[in-house]
Amino acid sequence: MSLTVALSKGKLLGGAAALFGRAGLPFPEDEGRRLVMDTGDLRFLFVKDMDVPTYVEYGVADCGIAGRDVVMESGSDVYEPLDLAFGRCRLAVARPKGRGLDYRRASTVRVASKYPRVATAHFLERGVSAEVVKLAGSVELAAVLGLADCIVDVVETGRTLEENGLEVVEDVAASSARLVVNRASYHARREEVGRFVDALRRVIPS
Ligand code: PRP
Repeated sequence: MSLTVALSKGKLLGGAAALFGRAGLPFPEDEGRRLVMDTGDLRFLFVKDMDVPTYVEYGVADCGIAGRDVVMESGSDVYEPLDLAFGRCRLAVARPKGRGLDYRRASTVRVASKYPRVATAHFLERGVSAEVVKLAGSVELAAVLGLADCIVDVVETGRTLEENGLEVVEDVAASSARLVVNRASYHARREEVGRFVDALRRVIPS
């Protein structure tokens, strides 16, 4: 039985295709809206980026590629054997430029984020009471229009913040694409998973 790999069609897809190409592994052609593709050696599932760790944790997929940001947010119990060294970005707290935000003075900070778990943990660690508003996207708007005092979001080039008049207040975590592996597969299918992990490891740029 071939290994099943969960991918998302988001920002990491190009990097994943390049990595698999260098490793001499099959990678599915984009065939429109099919969600499962079998190449013989590997079977691929296309799921939402936030769902990759879930499919892997529950064993529907043996492995998956997800950003560290997504793995952190999911809280999924998966192995994370490889940093794949692409898709680099960071999670950061940002607010409208020039608008003071002193956590120690505010009784409660309202934070908008696609990453409520990460955001809650970040403020908790600082002893700050935060009300986290979960959004599905375009999070910057929440800070611009006053739905929240600040946001916790992904910053890659910084363009979205810049074009919407926001600035980073503090970093939360660095992120890059990770290989995640189901814990049971890692042991029960040790040889196949080991070969797959080694094939990728050999072609990760240092
Ligand atoms: C992500 C993130 C920021 C943007 C950061 O959004 O939420 O909005 O990318 O990238 P930048 O620093 O290079 O501008 P995404 O494109 O995933 O869309 P979304 O806002 O709908 O989630």
